[in-house]
Amino acid sequence: MAVGFGGSSVFNRASPSSYPRCVAAILRDYATVPRPPARILDVGGTERGFRSKAPGVTVVIANPQKGVGADVDYVSNIGPDVEGFDLAMLFGLIMYLKPEEVAGLLRDVKQRLRGPATVMIAEPDPETGWGWAEIQAKKIVAALGAFPPDRFNFHTKGQATELLRQAGFNRVRERADLIPTFRDSAPLPAPRPAYYVLAAQV
Ligand SMILES: C[S@@+](CC[C@H](N)C(=O)[O-])C[C@H]1O[C@@H](n2cnc3c(N)ncnc32)[C@H](O)[C@@H]1O
Repeated sequence: MAVGFGGSSVFNRASPSSYPRCVAAILRDYATVPRPPARILDVGGTERGFRSKAPGVTVVIANPQKGVGADVDYVSNIGPDVEGFDLAMLFGLIMYLKPEEVAGLLRDVKQRLRGPATVMIAEPDPETGWGWAEIQAKKIVAALGAFPPDRFNFHTKGQATELLRQAGFNRVRERADLIPTFRDSAPLPAPRPAYYVLAAQV
């Protein structure tokens, strides 16, 4: 699957990974392990996204898209000899996957975590007004052919929570404070609070 946005924050304006405030809070809360340095897995990430705002932190990017600075294409291709991760992020990603594909991906991610690790999901929220507007915008841009793929599987917060639980992440917490809002800017102001953000642990 290809998404031709090149990882730019300008084209990804509703994701926490586009905003220094959100990245700093995620690092503070989930990448301070008892045994530093923390290791982060950014699934569907880009080098112009989260990693560019986390200098000095190990952020491994798994993304099959060419030209986004990925270290590996799919999580399932991360070798068994690679050190485990303390935090895995799936931001703006599961909207491209069917529920069974999300379930498989979460199982793959879980196998690559170490210690009391966290997995985070951030997605457009189909149950809020701004989330709905974001989804319509994505559909229109995709239909124009500018932003493939043009097929989505938008998952509600409840559905994402259930998928996390089924994968064994039973402690799921909503982090509304990590949703970008009009207060944030990088390089343009965040348009609206359109995503939900979940953080889960086994
Ligand atoms: C909208 S971008 C999200 C960018 C980034 N995560 C952020 O928040 O700024 C979605 C990305 O997910 C990637 N992707 C799609 N399926 C994937 C999979 N199974 N594993 C890893 N990445 C995937 C696409 O190639 C695309 O670059």
